[in-house]
Amino acid sequence: MQTSPRPDRSWWSDAVCYQVYIRSFADSDADGVGDLGGILSRLGYLELLGVDALWITPCYRSPMVDHGYDITDPRDIDPMFGDLASFDALVAASHEHGIRVILDLVPNHTSNQHGWFRAALGAAPGSPERSRYHFRYGRGADGSQPPNNWPSQFGGPAWTRIVEPHGRPGQWYLHLFAPAQPDLNWEHPEVRADLEKTLRFWLDRGVDGFRIDVAHGIAKPDGLPDGEPGGFALTEGGSGPDARFDHDQVHEVHRMIRSVTDEYRDRVLIGEIWVSDDDRFGRYLRPDELHLGFNFRLTTAPFDAAEIRAAIEHSLAAVAAVGAPPTWTLSNHDVARPVTRFGGGPNGSARARALALVELGLPGVVFVYNGEELGLPSAELPDEALRDPVWERSGRTRRGRDAHRIPLPWEGGPPGYGFTDAGPSWLPIPNDWVGLTVEAQLEDTASTLSLYRHALQLRRSHPGFVGGSLEWYGAPAGCCAYRRTGTTFVCALNTSAEPVPLPPGEVLLCSGRLTDDGRLPPGTAVWLA
Ligand code: GLC
Ligand code: MG
Repeated sequence: MQTSPRPDRSWWSDAVCYQVYIRSFADSDADGVGDLGGILSRLGYLELLGVDALWITPCYRSPMVDHGYDITDPRDIDPMFGDLASFDALVAASHEHGIRVILDLVPNHTSNQHGWFRAALGAAPGSPERSRYHFRYGRGADGSQPPNNWPSQFGGPAWTRIVEPHGRPGQWYLHLFAPAQPDLNWEHPEVRADLEKTLRFWLDRGVDGFRIDVAHGIAKPDGLPDGEPGGFALTEGGSGPDARFDHDQVHEVHRMIRSVTDEYRDRVLIGEIWVSDDDRFGRYLRPDELHLGFNFRLTTAPFDAAEIRAAIEHSLAAVAAVGAPPTWTLSNHDVARPVTRFGGGPNGSARARALALVELGLPGVVFVYNGEELGLPSAELPDEALRDPVWERSGRTRRGRDAHRIPLPWEGGPPGYGFTDAGPSWLPIPNDWVGLTVEAQLEDTASTLSLYRHALQLRRSHPGFVGGSLEWYGAPAGCCAYRRTGTTFVCALNTSAEPVPLPPGEVLLCSGRLTDDGRLPPGTAVWLA
């Protein structure tokens, strides 16, 4: 492992972290599903891209109802992805490449196939086995109505009624996600003790940190009261208070996770925090809680300079009070890819490139979701190809997240694109992605991959990328521009319909091409110094 050039700062304070959605990154054993061996075989690419760390989505033992976010054993690798030996080999090789490894921790729920849940089903109401989850009697004379009005994120109620061991319908259990993902009761000491064990298990194996799934939802309010009927955020990006999330007791869980992690050197904790209030968001990053929190404002901001500037200002404000580094995310495995969100086609792709430059110029931690560096769009899939539980759970009214999880096209063409030697991959790669492969983009200086490589290289080496703060420039309508404080580095974005003059400075990098008379065209961003 290389030593940090700035020992006074944590390695993650301005890191570029690459999200590997393991099923879709690279397949080494020809079963059509990505795996640990696939990541190992592509470390050279990741080094070339210039990332500091990988966040690998869950690779533990799982029936894969929610593609790994439903876990039966958090201290083992699912055979679909490899084994503990291949995991250790990946960590060691990543470190040799100067790349850290962050795992995805899922403390909110287990799989319904987990030994604890099976024991709960076989035990009586009120038993110690049931108390590790949230079992309740239903409402109505015969208990046939769910215990409260909470919806599941994936559609339908957040409760499922079970058949008791004596054979008749009985209690209900809580699942904020699929019925195959029962929520754990975090008041239970064994639940806590088990997570401590899991943390140490992976920290001892040398992982550099954890991304914490549903970090804002782990603690439940006393009595599980009803929420305001209109107050549930069912899609990512929903805002406002939601009865199911962000309860004060959750911070105790994060303090525990932090205290265990602090026994090890240089390990980072990143929370998935869908909380829109800046002050409440910042609470997760107090000095004895998580180091970083995903701020998702840029995943929902429209392509509008004022909105993008507001998203950035909010993200900075949310962490300023607690002194944590800001984080930036344009997409992940749960949300639409920027190219598609911005209208698709050449326009969508130009806008996604522009926003990428705006993001990569900012102080703090950047998360790049695999495929974002290739400018992949979300793909349209036929009904029969859909695999996300959201599709069935929503009564086929929401198509779910498969479109954003298509395997990476590495080289060649359909069906496998070098992602897999199997025939088709677990989600089909569109036939018209031949021009989007890594192979096609590597040597093309105008490609999105080249833009990312260039930007990441400048971010690492140019003296403008220092310090934690920025200042906004005056800019024409539909534009915004910031300067990194104390430097000459400026990033300008044009979301208006007309070309605009450039701010002073020499052009370092442009997301598109300047006009012949040297102005910044619509849908374009530029770096100057
Ligand atoms: C998080 C994950 C998402 C998963 C859910 C339930 O939001 O990012 O993919 O479905 O948690 O674990
Ligand atoms: Mg495989």
